[in-house]
Amino acid sequence: MSDSTSTSIPQERLIVTEIPGPRSREIHERRRAVVPPGVHSVLPVYIERAHDSIVVDVDGNRIIDVCGGIGVTTIGHTDDAVVAAATEQLNKVTHTLFTMTPYEPYVRVAEYLAKHVPGSTAEQPYKTLLMNSGAEAVENGVKIARKHTGRPGVAVLEHAYHGRTMLTSTMNHKAAPYALGYGPRASDVYKAPNSYPLHDGLSGEEAAKRTIAHLEKVAGAEDLACLVVEPIQGEGGFIVPADGFLPALAAWCRENGIVFIADEVQAGMARTGTVFSIEQFGVEPDIVLSAKGIAGGLPLAGITGRAEIMDKSQPGGLGGTFGGNPVSCAAAVAVFEQIEAQNLLAEAKRIEETFAAGLRKLQAEHDCIAEVRGMGAMLAIELVKPGTLEPDADLVARVIEFAAQRGVLLLSSGVHNQAIRFLPSLKMSDALLRDVVAVLDEAFAGCR
Ligand SMILES: Cc1ncc(COP(=O)(O)O)c(C=O)c1O
Repeated sequence: MSDSTSTSIPQERLIVTEIPGPRSREIHERRRAVVPPGVHSVLPVYIERAHDSIVVDVDGNRIIDVCGGIGVTTIGHTDDAVVAAATEQLNKVTHTLFTMTPYEPYVRVAEYLAKHVPGSTAEQPYKTLLMNSGAEAVENGVKIARKHTGRPGVAVLEHAYHGRTMLTSTMNHKAAPYALGYGPRASDVYKAPNSYPLHDGLSGEEAAKRTIAHLEKVAGAEDLACLVVEPIQGEGGFIVPADGFLPALAAWCRENGIVFIADEVQAGMARTGTVFSIEQFGVEPDIVLSAKGIAGGLPLAGITGRAEIMDKSQPGGLGGTFGGNPVSCAAAVAVFEQIEAQNLLAEAKRIEETFAAGLRKLQAEHDCIAEVRGMGAMLAIELVKPGTLEPDADLVARVIEFAAQRGVLLLSSGVHNQAIRFLPSLKMSDALLRDVVAVLDEAFAGCR
């Protein structure tokens, strides 16, 4: 293997310049002239290569990637099997348009999704539409639910994030930066309280009662086409709902003919230790949305729903030029194969054990950490002013900056930027995870 390949990247951090380095800064200056500021980069360090859990910037710094492109490189950067499958497909055919002349990899991805979605059986089959991005998955999930029910209403939860298209930016909790100034916003979107155990102290049943009462009052169940929920809220701060919350909402949806849509864009694809995170809550959704990690870094999104719902759309009503691109589909097939071959569900559990234990140790030592939460390789810490539950977004920002300078790429989340979220690759070694905890420990000591 030549040293110039991505797979030869040593899995350890190495800082050789300041962060960002001189070459990154030079590219960033050029970028300012041609890319609008609305396209913001959290850390303007320009990446040249990546493998597994390490990204290498144009200045030669090796950085531990604990974001994974916000939950995309779940299987690790440039996984050998994914690269091989995509390369083979690149050399065969890159595009025909599935809605013109189809190809098998699309069908194989749909088969894998049908196999893994909870609730899918021979008697109750699930079918899949493939698109390109998470927001497109959400848009199409809503569209399909409206067609099925003949109703307009879309219910979402507070603290949600569903994308940046016109409909999804209305569905998000935060107006700024996603919807502000881009109006008019979409109609018939209703926001209801979520379950946020650290702050509301409610049981799952109590929180669900509150959510349902709110929706019945402001929307009316009979006007609702769907309820869209992230089983674990991603941008909202990796909020794990109290036990019983999601099953109660799903039961209410079933009783009222409302399509229950699980947005698994961030939490899905093996990240939490099951292929879909909703499995851990004992719920069988009517529609499951996948994107991010599904194709190991290539753009692809799936809308997988009960056949009776999916079959309502007329021929030509669903699709898009690039939806289900053959190279992305070949990569996704490799991801599904590798989830089994590399035992990635168990790896997610290993990460939870090693990393959550490290984070809990930090919590015991630093009173600014109010909570360690999450599942598998989707973990977060919420930072507060000690002795209160008041969010400390400044501390979050300082810790992230401190870690970046030492070669650890972290990301905030939460409506108040109150949490640091961790989305390591499922192959991140225990040694790297411990290194991240050590840097965080230094950060908490240095940033207070
Ligand atoms: C839960 C969830 N839904 C939808 C989206 C939108 O996905 P995309 O950025 O691919 O459009 C995201 C992106 O972060 C997400 O986390």
